[in-house]
Amino acid sequence: MTAVTARTGSDVASLVADALRAQSAGAVTGADDLLARARRWGPDLEAGVRAVFDGPMADALLRRLAGIAVSGWMVRPQPLRDRDRDRLLRPDWFQAPDALGYVAYTDRFAGTLDGVARHVDYLRELGTTYLHLMPLLQPRPGANDGGYAVADYREVRGDLGSMADLEKLATVLHENGIALTIDLVLNHVAREHPWAAAARAGDPKHRAYFHVFDDRRMPDAYERTLPEVFPDFAPGNFTWDPEMAAWVWTTFNDYQWDLNWANPDVVCEFADLMLFLANRGVDCLRLDAIAFLWKRMGTDCQNQPEVHGLTRALRAVARIAAPSLVFKAEAIVAPGDLVKYLGVGEYAGHVSDLAYHNSLMVQIWSALATKDVRLLVRALHRFPPKPTTTAWATYLRCHDDIGWAIDDTDAGSVGWGGPSHRAFLSRWFVGNEPGSFARGEEFQVNEATGDSRISGSAASLVGVEQALDAQDPRLLDLAVRRLHCAYAIVYGFGGIPLLYMGDELGLLNDSSYLDEPEHADDNRWMHRPRMPWATAARRTDLTTLEGRVYALIKHLGDVRRSLPTLHAAVESRPTETSNPSVLAVLRSHAAGDLVQLYNVSADWQRCDAGVLGALYGRALVDHLGASEFYVEDGQVVLPPYAALWLAQA
Ligand code: GLC
Repeated sequence: MTAVTARTGSDVASLVADALRAQSAGAVTGADDLLARARRWGPDLEAGVRAVFDGPMADALLRRLAGIAVSGWMVRPQPLRDRDRDRLLRPDWFQAPDALGYVAYTDRFAGTLDGVARHVDYLRELGTTYLHLMPLLQPRPGANDGGYAVADYREVRGDLGSMADLEKLATVLHENGIALTIDLVLNHVAREHPWAAAARAGDPKHRAYFHVFDDRRMPDAYERTLPEVFPDFAPGNFTWDPEMAAWVWTTFNDYQWDLNWANPDVVCEFADLMLFLANRGVDCLRLDAIAFLWKRMGTDCQNQPEVHGLTRALRAVARIAAPSLVFKAEAIVAPGDLVKYLGVGEYAGHVSDLAYHNSLMVQIWSALATKDVRLLVRALHRFPPKPTTTAWATYLRCHDDIGWAIDDTDAGSVGWGGPSHRAFLSRWFVGNEPGSFARGEEFQVNEATGDSRISGSAASLVGVEQALDAQDPRLLDLAVRRLHCAYAIVYGFGGIPLLYMGDELGLLNDSSYLDEPEHADDNRWMHRPRMPWATAARRTDLTTLEGRVYALIKHLGDVRRSLPTLHAAVESRPTETSNPSVLAVLRSHAAGDLVQLYNVSADWQRCDAGVLGALYGRALVDHLGASEFYVEDGQVVLPPYAALWLAQA
């Protein structure tokens, strides 16, 4: 027991010590650790807050955040404090080669939170160390954007269970070596959320939580430079609210009210919510739509510098009060903006721990369609190195559509036009191009810009559905290889690979959403299937499609776990080979070099063996062992969709 008297050098640490004295009567167990962390991360908190707010406003906010950190820490259950200590001793847990993510909707995967606990063996079998359960907090009734319109952040959606069930599940997951990720939707709340209801009832404090305008002057001025996220079913970025007789900022659907993060009250609410969720056993918060938090006239109101200051401040609060909590940024933005979410310049290593590698995902699809990896390599080369303490979340599919975030300059570097290549990809993935293997659907066609995005399951997009319809075993074999090749890039990149529920079984598009009135107008539901457990039961039968796909995906995880060189502290270097259809991904690690080769075409390909670098001429081992390749006359010869992870034997 330590008496709370310590005064420390840094301002935040003193504020934390003050708050601790105010909130406790005398000595508090663990206070030394808390104060040590306040000294360690206090400067971060201060830098984040002062990057966004001026003088007295920043001072007041720092004091409030210190108080929130202390009150969150005071009620943190002991097992989670133990977890904090363990994580601080192993801060790279999410970077390690054994880190493997699985992403699922609670109800669609297992009915309820208790149901998820009953399927923990399935998750373990796949090697899962990180489970992202899609939105599960209480949404508004009716349409709710797949749960991304939250009406109560402190309650679980009734049909899934309760907050107590979530805590129970977190404990079960932790006992099984699995971290729990949930969404923190922080750009907007449901219009039914009490803050929005209070605003409508005329409460000025809560009206100031939102961006509210009496007339169209400001909305029109903003609209001049704002893109549209849902041009099809939610055009425009502002919604008229008859009760307030005013316009409200609604970037997404009209029932999702954007929050005003320039208001310190909003910052404090979310700091408090974040610790509330961490104290339930949540290990990672997926910061939903984080790019949109800050609005600035004359811009697209995405990726504004203040977003990073706010993230830095929130992360510092978490590090002080609940240090095992990590952040994953969901910023589906252009390549040039993406790495900032892991931090560049003064923010390097001070913002999110994880970020979705949207560019890699898009480029894998583009490479499969064009059988050409040059654009992938050039686009990824433009990325500055990420901070060594962070990791990409790599993925092939998720619950959202695929938007063609391809830079015009990058496309130009291989002689393609940006808009025409993006349009080509949309046509390809709906099956409207000669030779296409894909069965996707267009999502949110923007008539004004000609842009469109793609929905569809991984298996349907790589050609499994087409092959099954054609009853052509050769096409099916190619499609399975294509899926394996794509997932091998995802698992081999370094960073936490996210397996999207159903991909491990090759699940096809699911049209049942069309019969569900709440989902029928949003075809993203075609790739949000219910887990067919009867199909999953055949996963060990290698004569079935699901058995074959499952074995390949599970094997990727098993091999990955055994390779220290895949630790995410080290960068992957995607590299061109002498053959545009063959991608090399080079990793140089003190534990040993790894050269990955991927043939993104349906034909045999050869490339110059010089790409093997120091491995050239030595006895090689292909850790994946899934493709028959050979080296001949200074060339590596690769079968269709080969995926090789090569090291010295
Ligand atoms: C994120 C989610 C997406 C949702 C949007 C608005 O991008 O992934 O499904 O529509 O945020 O919350």
